[in-house]
Amino acid sequence: MIEIDIEFVKTIAKEAGERAIEMQNAMTPELKADNSYVTNIDRETERFVRGRLEERYPDFAFLGEEFGRHGSDDAPLWAVDPIDGTTNMVFNIPIWCVSIGLIYQGEAIAGVIYLPRTNELFWGVKGEGAFCNGVRLQTRDRSELHPEDTLGFTSGAIKRMETSLLTGRLRCLGSIAADIAYTARGTLCSLVGWNEGAYDMAAALCMAHEAGCVAEHLNGEPLDLGRTLREGKTHAPFVVAPPNLAKFLQENIQLRIPVGAKE
Ligand code: IPD
Ligand code: CA
Ligand code: CA
Repeated sequence: MIEIDIEFVKTIAKEAGERAIEMQNAMTPELKADNSYVTNIDRETERFVRGRLEERYPDFAFLGEEFGRHGSDDAPLWAVDPIDGTTNMVFNIPIWCVSIGLIYQGEAIAGVIYLPRTNELFWGVKGEGAFCNGVRLQTRDRSELHPEDTLGFTSGAIKRMETSLLTGRLRCLGSIAADIAYTARGTLCSLVGWNEGAYDMAAALCMAHEAGCVAEHLNGEPLDLGRTLREGKTHAPFVVAPPNLAKFLQENIQLRIPVGAKE
């Protein structure tokens, strides 16, 4: 059993988010090779989070979106997206967050997500539940959709899927970590994603499981975080939702563009 001080991790996420806001008026966005934005804030936040975690957990490994992986393969792994939702941050859309997950033996065992613009602090620990600003997260399951149910999709997923027959309101919030944390809270009923990394999702997946969600591909196969770590991105589209709703979506979502094809 890995013991961690979740209060310490919460403090780091909060501090990192507040620092990011302070840096926003000196933000310098640039495009990466894949044409997505990165900024000085993403890099500085990763350095900050890594430094703080390493002081306290020197034997743990670390994976961050901007500077990659460090440390031993067998150690518990911090999987950190310093800013998830960078495009939102660049254009001043308030949904972006600092995401700190802990993966051990292929499973997300703890996570903290902080959205500094909305002051939402989510956290979860395997076996201890998941919370946002002190309130326990618990999803409500359903076997069919109501027109006012809100369904989250990543931008990549919605462009590749036939969604016109789905009842409900479709939402594309721009941060997969927030999408999954919101699904764990029931703010979104579900999230459908396509091509995401372990650092994007580790923290939020821990919360989603604790709140009663499954994370599965459209054929029912569980999302394997260990495989995502090894391969870099999820190999196929997936859904995060309470079990009956996940089944409903698996039966009712069709792909417009096959897995493996370019967006
Ligand atoms: C992105 C966001 C977005 C998702 C992308 C991610 P970033 O992360 O989470 O919602 O659809 O695939 O890359 O680049 O802002 O860290
Ligand atoms: Ca991300
Ligand atoms: Ca990022």
